[in-house]
Amino acid sequence: MLKLHKLKIIKQELVAPGYQRLTLAGGIAALAGQFVQVRVSETCDPFLRRPISVHHCTEDRLVLLYRTVGRGTALLAAKKAGETLDLLGPLGSSFPLTDRPSAVVVAGGIGAAPLYCLLQALKQAGKQVSFFYGARNQAELLLRDEYRALVANYSEATDDGSAGTRAVVTQLATPAFASLDATVYACGPSPMLREVARLADYYGRSCFVSLEAQLACGVGACLGCVVPVKGQEQYRRVCVDGPVFAAGEVFFC
Ligand SMILES: Cc1cc2nc3c(=O)[nH]c(=O)nc-3n(C[C@H](O)[C@H](O)[C@H](O)COP(=O)(O)OP(=O)(O)OC[C@H]3O[C@@H](n4cnc5c(N)ncnc54)[C@H](O)[C@@H]3O)c2cc1C
Ligand code: FES
Repeated sequence: MLKLHKLKIIKQELVAPGYQRLTLAGGIAALAGQFVQVRVSETCDPFLRRPISVHHCTEDRLVLLYRTVGRGTALLAAKKAGETLDLLGPLGSSFPLTDRPSAVVVAGGIGAAPLYCLLQALKQAGKQVSFFYGARNQAELLLRDEYRALVANYSEATDDGSAGTRAVVTQLATPAFASLDATVYACGPSPMLREVARLADYYGRSCFVSLEAQLACGVGACLGCVVPVKGQEQYRRVCVDGPVFAAGEVFFC
């Protein structure tokens, strides 16, 4: 249930240059793919909360994994253990589990953040999971051992070849789309999601993608986050109708 939470920061870790993992005391009963709206300042500047996916949650812990890209995330990164963080959530749709025995999960960059929760749910459901993790370079493949521990098959791709295969991650994942009776899940940059959706459609796999957009209210009121979709409705809100959508529904520009 959507709720305002004030949770104490237990740990703020730099997991790679520009990437932080924040552990908070208190659970928020989120599903894989959902997010929270974080108030990054005690004042009204910046005015808007920042959306961050739930990376991992238990009854008494909430973990966020984020990249510092601008003022809001820099303010978040400056927060210390012992301080209290104001969060609204859980928000948005989640990744559905299906009756397929296998899953192909494709992550691009910080898109891996919400997929950790999904990998845990798939493992718990007894699915055979192949995880394809792509990033610009080795340093940006975050928490590799933790992701690897959750899946049967783990593969990496980097743009510069500093870890795994020098390729785009969709190239690496293509044989799995063809050979496995799997549901496909993905989160990452738009060009990656567009290619994942194309491959899933070509091989006849169900596919769910988590989209990013710049959010304002985060609760469906302002229409600031709409994306074009196929069919009659034409536009849907990323914050409440998504961020997870069936790939066949999304109109990738
Ligand atoms: C549903 C959802 C879940 C998200 N989960 C995570 C997560 O788990 N970890 C994480 O690191 N980030 C996540 N993001 C992105 C994160 O919200 C933005 O990076 C953050 O709001 C940027 O705030 P800022 O003030 O630091 O940057 P700003 O100063 O607002 O912007 C800095 C730069 O980042 C770009 N930017 C800002 N917001 C977004 C966005 N939503 N998508 C793409 N580019 C953006 C701006 O155009 C600008 O170039 C998520 C976004 C959404 C919509
Ligand atoms: S951010 Fe306001 S409707 Fe989605």
